[in-house]
Order: sequence, then C-alpha cells, then structure tokens
Amino acid sequence: MTTTIDPDFERLLEYVRDARGFDYTGYRRPTLMRGFEKRMHAVGAADWGAYRAYLEHHPDEFSELFNTILINVTGFFRDKETWDVLAEDVVPKLLASREEPASIRVWSAGCASGEEPYTISMLLAEALGEEAYKDRVKIYATDVDEEALAQARDATYSARQLSEIPAELREKYFQRANGGFVFRNDLRRSVIFGRNDLHKDPPISRVDLLVSRNTLMYFAPEIQERILANFYFALNRGGYLIVGKAEALQKGRLFVPYNLKRRIFVKDGSAEPAFHVPRPAALPEMVDAGMEFGDAAFEHAPVAQIVVDTKNRVAAVNQVARALFGLKLKDVGRPLQDLEVSYRPVELRSLIEETRRNRRAAAVKDVEWEMPKGTRRSFDVSVALLAGVGNGLAGLSIAFVDSTAHRALEQQLEHARRELETAYEELQSTVEELETTNAELQSTNEELETTNEELQSTNEELETMNEELQSTNEELETMNDELRQRTDDTMRANAFLTSVLSSVQQAVIVVDRELRVIAWSSQASEILGLRDDEVEGRHVFNLDVGLPVSQLREPIRHVLNGVGDSPVTVEGHNRRGQAVRYSVVFAPLAGNEPDSIVGVILLLTADRID
Ligand SMILES: C[S@@+](CC[C@H](N)C(=O)[O-])C[C@H]1O[C@@H](n2cnc3c(N)ncnc32)[C@H](O)[C@@H]1O
Repeated sequence: MTTTIDPDFERLLEYVRDARGFDYTGYRRPTLMRGFEKRMHAVGAADWGAYRAYLEHHPDEFSELFNTILINVTGFFRDKETWDVLAEDVVPKLLASREEPASIRVWSAGCASGEEPYTISMLLAEALGEEAYKDRVKIYATDVDEEALAQARDATYSARQLSEIPAELREKYFQRANGGFVFRNDLRRSVIFGRNDLHKDPPISRVDLLVSRNTLMYFAPEIQERILANFYFALNRGGYLIVGKAEALQKGRLFVPYNLKRRIFVKDGSAEPAFHVPRPAALPEMVDAGMEFGDAAFEHAPVAQIVVDTKNRVAAVNQVARALFGLKLKDVGRPLQDLEVSYRPVELRSLIEETRRNRRAAAVKDVEWEMPKGTRRSFDVSVALLAGVGNGLAGLSIAFVDSTAHRALEQQLEHARRELETAYEELQSTVEELETTNAELQSTNEELETTNEELQSTNEELETMNEELQSTNEELETMNDELRQRTDDTMRANAFLTSVLSSVQQAVIVVDRELRVIAWSSQASEILGLRDDEVEGRHVFNLDVGLPVSQLREPIRHVLNGVGDSPVTVEGHNRRGQAVRYSVVFAPLAGNEPDSIVGVILLLTADRID
C-alpha cells in the first residue's frame, strides 16, 4: 500500500523530533496521521502547520500527542493460542537447550503496561518452579512510553485486567493490594523495566526469547527491517522470536519460521556467513594402461588419427580416419600434401608448420565439414608432437575429434539456457508481483490490525467513560433517594402541622417578620372567608377580610420586638357579613436561634354581636 508523502506533515514530524527528540519519522503514515488528526481536532488546529504552531506555544500538548500515538493496548495472555504454544512447546524446548544453571534471558520489546512480561514471567515460573525461576530468569521489558512503563513497574491491575488469566495462576501470582491486584513482588524482581526506543537505541544482547508483539507494525517496512536486524543480533543462536499475529517477517531473511501461524521464529544462525565449500575427494590413482596394446588401441581408437613423420609423409592412419577421409593403407608412406585431407576439412599444412615451429601442440576448434553425403559435421582438430628417441622429434599425430554431437548438444544447451533465462525472468517478475501483492496485503492487514488496535483503544476509552457515567449515576441515585426521603419528611411534617392547626378551636394565622401570611388554618378560612392558598405570602394588612387588621398593627409590632402583648378585642364582621367581636391572642413564633422571633402567631375567636 503506497502512501503519498505530505511535505507539511513530514515537516511537522521533523519538528516533533527536533523539539522533543521523539522520532516518529519511521512510523507508518496512515496510523500516525490519524493520531495527529485526533489531537488537531481536540485543540481546534485546522492543518499540520497550525498544529505545529499550537505545539510551539503549548508544550503540554506534546504529552497528549504522545499518549494518543503510542497505543498501549495490551493484556495478559493476549492471543491465548500463542501462549499455549509457548507453554507447551517453545518453553520446554528452550529450557532443554539451556540446562541448569544457565541463565534464561528474555526481552519483551514494546511491553506497554507490563501485562506481556508478567505473562512470560508466570509461564517461566510454572515451567521452572519458583526457586529456579528466581535464580535463573531475567526478563528485560522495554518500551518507549514512560507513562506505560510507570504503570508496568507499579504492577497493579484491576480485576477486569486480570480476567484473561487462568484462575489458578491468578490466585498464585497476584495479591490484593491498593484496591487492585499486585503481581507478586518476589517474582516481579526478575522483571527489569527500562526505556528503549526500538527505532534508535541499541538492543539487549544474549537473549533466548524475544517477544515483540504488535509493536513492529507501527513502523514503516524499512525501519522494521532495521529493528529485525537488531533482534537478530540480540538473540542467541537457537533463540526464539515471537511477533504479533498480524506481523510478518520477510521470507528467507534472518529468521526461520518455527510456527508460522503463531508467528514464532527461530534464529538458526544460518544467515551468518557460515558456508563451507566441501573439498573434492582425492582423485583415484591413474592406472597404467600398458604399452603392449598401443598399436591396437591406435587402430581402434574412436577418434580419427593420422601420424606423419619428420618429412610429413603419412606414417599411420587409423581405422576411423581411413573411413572418414577415404584413405587407404597404401596411402601410408605418401606425402601428406598429396592427399585431400591435407587441406580439407582444414588446412593441415600450416597447422603442422606452426606445431613444428613452436614445438608445441596446436589445435583448431569447430571445423565444419560438409560430408560427401551432404551431412554436416564439425571437428576439433589438434596436432601433437611425437617424441622420438632422446629428445628428438619422431613425427606428428593429427587427431580429428568429431564434435558434431557435442556441438549440437551445446547449441541445444544454449537454447535451453536462453529459454530458461526467459522463463526465470518471467518467474522472477511473477514472484516480484506476488511479493508486491503480498506486501500490500500484509500492509493492508497490518493497517487493519492497527485500526483494530485503535478501535480497541477507543472501545476501552468508551468503557472507561461508561464506568465514569455509571459512577455519576450512582451518586445521583443516592442524592435522589435522600431528596425523596426529605420530601416525605416534609409532607409528613406539613400534614402534621395542618392537622394541629385544624384541631385548634381558634382560627390560627401566622405571619413572618415582613407580615406576610405563612399559615392560615381552616377555621380562619371558615370565619374570614378566604382560603389558605388565596392568602399565603400576602401581606396581612392588605387582606380584604372582616377582621380590622390595621387595629392589630401595634400588638403585632410589640410581639415582633419581643415585648409581648395582651389579647385584643376588635369588632368586625365574618364571611357572611354578620357583625362579630374578634378576640385576638398574640404569641411570638420562635426561630432556630435562641431568643430569635421570626414571626407572630394570632389566635382569634369570633363571637356574634346580636
Ligand atoms: C499495542 S502495544 C503492544 C503491547 C504488547 N506488546 C502486546 O502485544 O500486548 C505497542 C507498544 O509499542 C510501544 N512503542 C511504540 N513505538 C515504540 C518505539 N519506538 N520503541 C519501543 N516501543 C514502542 C508503544 O508505546 C506501545 O506500548
């Protein structure tokens, strides 16, 4: 999958690198852009340039950005099947190859908040027994994200985070504390956390097991290659590398697949220059052919041969030569130049001359000859010196090796080679196409996996929000219960008061310090003709009733001032317009504060005046 380069975005990445030393330039662009866009949206920046300006003026935004980009999704026993293979197959093999007391070194690269290294820790403790584990195991757990590392060091997890751990391991390796579950400290000591940027920091060395899952996939392929080369360096020969289920290693490079489905690989060391060229076996000793068969061998040799003496006279012609060139035994003794063979198929005289002159064998290859029957043949013709007694020259041997079949084979071979080359090129291009398609699929897959990670992360965010909302809801429900309780209490108190007021013989009117009516009993309604809802809150002196309220002003003021007053009798009329004499008794309405008066209670009776 190709991503077009956006120069503004690249500049923004360079700015982040130069300002904070965090180099995201090697990360996959689509994932990275989504992370940045999320933050841009949050701070209201319209484009990459605006976001860069925002970062310049708000340094705190860097940590928000890093938190968004470094997705820390992880979990205990994440992708359980891989851990099953580790427990049942890889770890036993590893332990068998590292006999006691050899140390076992593990590297969890991109460990996030620690669930992965603690999972490894549990597996090894189970396989080795706790004592051997404590003596022999070192788990180096690294990440670039300091916040995640701090959580990992704390080793405290919620019940939900522990849910994927088999119950018996949970019981054995975690203790309740700090409102959560803490990984046991005595085992935790073998896990060493540290910050390591896979992109630029050197690797941990001499590692037997390297677990780096769902981390490589954030990097662009060329950076992945570099990181993998570091992993290769980090691992001991025979050590295992485990990557995430969506991550793939380039075929045929560095690591050998061990369990491809579970993304487990081995460093078998063959990628190191360790090839030995086998030495050829010693040749068997040559066997002496025996000289007594020399003549017969010459006569019946499969190669046409003519021997000439020092004066270029034919000294011998073997059977094949006679048949091939139409020579007869009687030609023996004749000068070679008198025979057709001296110039056909090749000019022998100059060749013989050259051999004699240089005292060295001479040869001509691929001499074409059209035979009398029209067939074409080719020969390799060679002239060799024949040594005589002492150091003298006895003559020359001329051999015609028929290379027709050989030539045809060579041509066929050449043809086949060319065809093979074409086929190979076609194959190569198909393989390359396949590889590209494969890489694209892989990349799409990793993209999807990344999106999945992000969705998972969003999901977790939503879950957290949900939990927060749930907690707010519970608080609101508690408050609601309290309010309901208070309303019930108030209603009960009101009913009680109304019942008290209606049980008193006299009409009861209560006013506050501003002389507004705050209680009006049913008897008051009966006598004066106004209902409580018509008078409550109104100024008592503004009421249009048969009671001459203005005459009560003085006694009410006295009571409010704490002087108290004696009952008053005034004349007026009742709701039916009948003349009545009102007897009014005043009492102060005590407030919550000691000696405070918050109103006046008026008790009145009405007697008709006949
Ligand atoms: C999705 S988590 C994987 C956690 C764990 N390995 C797992 O599979 O459950 C990816 C981790 O890679 C880390 N990471 C990202 N860039 C890194 C870098 N340059 N060097 C080291 N770790 C890096 C992130 O901080 C994050 O914790």
